[in-house]
Amino acid sequence: MSHQALYRDKRTTAAQAVRHVRNGDMVIVPTGVGEPPTLLTALSEQRRDFLDVKVAQILAMRPYAYIDPETTQHVRHVALFFGGATRAGGQAGWIDFIPNYFSEIPAQIARGLIPAEVVFSMASPMDDDGWLSLSLGADYTMAAVAKARAVVLEVNPNVPFANGDCRIHISQVAALVESSEPVLEVGLPKIGPVQEAIGRYVAERIDDGSTLQIGYGGIPDAVVMQLAHKHDLGIHTEMLGDGILTLIEAGAVNNSRKNYLPGRTIATFALGSRKLYQYMHRNPALEMHPVDFTNDPLLAGQNDNLVAINATLQIDLLGQCGSESLGHAPFSGTGGQSDFVRAANRSRGGKAFIVLPSTAKGDTISRIVPSLSPGTHVSTSKNDIHYVVTEYGVAQLRGKSAKQRAQELIAVAHPDFRGELTAQARLARLL
Ligand code: COA
Repeated sequence: MSHQALYRDKRTTAAQAVRHVRNGDMVIVPTGVGEPPTLLTALSEQRRDFLDVKVAQILAMRPYAYIDPETTQHVRHVALFFGGATRAGGQAGWIDFIPNYFSEIPAQIARGLIPAEVVFSMASPMDDDGWLSLSLGADYTMAAVAKARAVVLEVNPNVPFANGDCRIHISQVAALVESSEPVLEVGLPKIGPVQEAIGRYVAERIDDGSTLQIGYGGIPDAVVMQLAHKHDLGIHTEMLGDGILTLIEAGAVNNSRKNYLPGRTIATFALGSRKLYQYMHRNPALEMHPVDFTNDPLLAGQNDNLVAINATLQIDLLGQCGSESLGHAPFSGTGGQSDFVRAANRSRGGKAFIVLPSTAKGDTISRIVPSLSPGTHVSTSKNDIHYVVTEYGVAQLRGKSAKQRAQELIAVAHPDFRGELTAQARLARLL
């Protein structure tokens, strides 16, 4: 059968396509905007016909009807990283989560530790040779494709056909539906004076020719905005966003001085504007790869001068970062934070920046604390932490003793909290 005939044979309605799911299955969905809205809406509509079906994903974007505390015995979400659509359910306890390093999810799928009976994903239209691109999220989805009983795609002409290891052949597909809505767009966060100040401190420490990983959240984007005047930057990251596109357009990124995969921007998922998705289409200067490749600290660390920029919610005086929960309440996930902190530590000349405003809730709470709040999930450990940056300056913790770390961190805390932090540090025999 020709590729086109195979394609026509597998094309069906969303209501039929979701019938590839069986009771008890785990459905794997790509990160963020790689989620297929038509398929997940159809699954939501039919959810009461199923029993014990789980949908696992990093950063669910839309509040699908299946994300419903009343129907969890039928279909329920399992967060690999919480986002806006799932955070409230996680905090209320009816959405469970699987702790992980992003880089290791593919191996957990390959070994059957995370089941993957079905894949639901967005895909680009098919090329003449029968290939479709899972460009919006190669991440752990490629590992799930290799393992799944049924791969079900939502083919949309607005999904770019990207280079890299993110392709699937029509012969591997169980069913497909077609849609033509624009891919969901995610704007850059608002940047205020605190974010700008942090961005400046980090930007001052990034040399021309460095390779960047840009994390998730407002401040990593604020840093990016201050790098447009740099030269010969490279990108080896997990998330491709509009901040990076701005640097490419400004001529600051050309990947010429990368010593690992030179000449190419490397990422595992995309989250941004229509302009970004269009930039990705058949672009020889960009490759999308599975996350066990992009985020492997040994591989990413082969880039000299690798700079990792990631955000946290709270940090204690040893440098342990609670980046993904507020006490017991889950907020997001580890994502690639630890992967890239470790990668930067391995890189010759590498720098890992953890960035945070010094306070939260209108300056009423210090984010630098003597001890993490009870229940906090530690994302970056005291053994991995390198630079910590607030709007008051930069603390360099690597190689420093516990006492030196406490001093460095108190010096970049909000002035209103420095006295209390010093008193608490003395009580804990840290000072
Ligand atoms: N105590 C109480 N509330 C706090 C707090 C603290 N210590 N720290 C933050 N908050 C509140 C903020 O006030 C804010 O609330 P609001 O929305 O009501 O204003 C909210 O928590 C989010 O904080 P903010 O600093 O704005 O977060 P962000 O959207 O910039 O995201 C992370 C920051 C840390 C959540 C995000 O970067 C993350 O998930 N990091 C871990 C994963 C990671 O880095 N991966 C790498 C790339 S995927």
